[in-house]
Amino acid sequence: MEQTTTTFTDTKINFCPGPATLPRIAVLEAARGIVNYEDTGLSVLEISHRSKEFEAIFEEARALVKEILGLGEEYAVLFLTGGASMQFCMVPYNLLPDNGTAAYLDTGVWSVKAIKEAEVFGKTKVIATSKKFDYTFIPKEYLLYSSYAYLHITTNNTVCGTQIHKMPTTSIPIVADMSSDIFSQQRDYSQFDLIYAGAQKNLGPAGTTLVIVKKDILGRVERKIPSMLNYQTHIKKPIFNTPPVFAIYTCLLTLRWIKSRGIKQIEADNRKKSTMLYEEIDRNPLFKGIARPEDRSMMNATFTTINKAHEPLFLKFVEAAGCVGLKGYRTFGGFRASMYNAMPVEGVATLVDLMQEFERTHG
Ligand SMILES: Cc1ncc(COP(=O)(O)O)c(C=O)c1O
Repeated sequence: MEQTTTTFTDTKINFCPGPATLPRIAVLEAARGIVNYEDTGLSVLEISHRSKEFEAIFEEARALVKEILGLGEEYAVLFLTGGASMQFCMVPYNLLPDNGTAAYLDTGVWSVKAIKEAEVFGKTKVIATSKKFDYTFIPKEYLLYSSYAYLHITTNNTVCGTQIHKMPTTSIPIVADMSSDIFSQQRDYSQFDLIYAGAQKNLGPAGTTLVIVKKDILGRVERKIPSMLNYQTHIKKPIFNTPPVFAIYTCLLTLRWIKSRGIKQIEADNRKKSTMLYEEIDRNPLFKGIARPEDRSMMNATFTTINKAHEPLFLKFVEAAGCVGLKGYRTFGGFRASMYNAMPVEGVATLVDLMQEFERTHG
């Protein structure tokens, strides 16, 4: 099967923050699977989650996650439901003892939600926050005590467009919400003890959440945990209940695409796209960036117009040219260009051309 980076549908370039652009090849293959999955005479929507077909999909997807991220047997790979938001609660349910304290780095909307859930189970310590500055940068100075049950970070802040470029080093277990930057760059993924990511940005459609957990950090809390919310249930019995078969199948197709391109190439493309866009934001006198340059995200670029009156005009202008999903988060405003792995370089180049054309007509 030919692998291609092209993801454009016939008419639109999709800058949505998630659900988001998927590799075109994965979408086409998924569409074929809906009609007749690998000549079984069944749709992938109809196959049993206990069938040998689904077992093969599931096992290949789990193996590819480990292979691509370079992780060993000490990790378990789970495809769960409930979104990344469910992980805000599952993480402390499983890892934070009643009398323990978990450290949270507060870098935006999603960290705040994670902290709120953790407070149901134990104490939290916000080790640093950039809240007063509208989360436009990543705080870098903080103290970590070995008594903390874990440190929780959000590696990429989808809303404000910041990203952690230097990971903390600590002996405390690190839990990372990588919903919006997993598989986007080379990293030492073994420095994390638990990684979670809603699939709907860099991995597949909405409906499943990837959880990668180091098995030896589990079983340290005393409380009773309901089966569905207990990681150990899903490790012991990976298909514990009916999983979202189609979502996992599409994740597998995307994982095959990621493997065929290689994370190194994917990262190079992501750097190229984000550099191109940030250079234009900085050069163009009509626009300005929102996040501090040193913490800018490779995945979500946030920016705005210098003249407020230009904001709706620019949005209308790009939408007429087929660029969708650029409106900033509802509480944050401005624009947000989400450039996940499957966004082709040409998609970002088109947006840059449009910014230049807007400058010529409105500058
Ligand atoms: C970084 C991050 N964490 C968590 C979430 C919440 O994900 P979900 O909607 O799957 O619960 C999002 C959603 O965009 C996100 O960007």
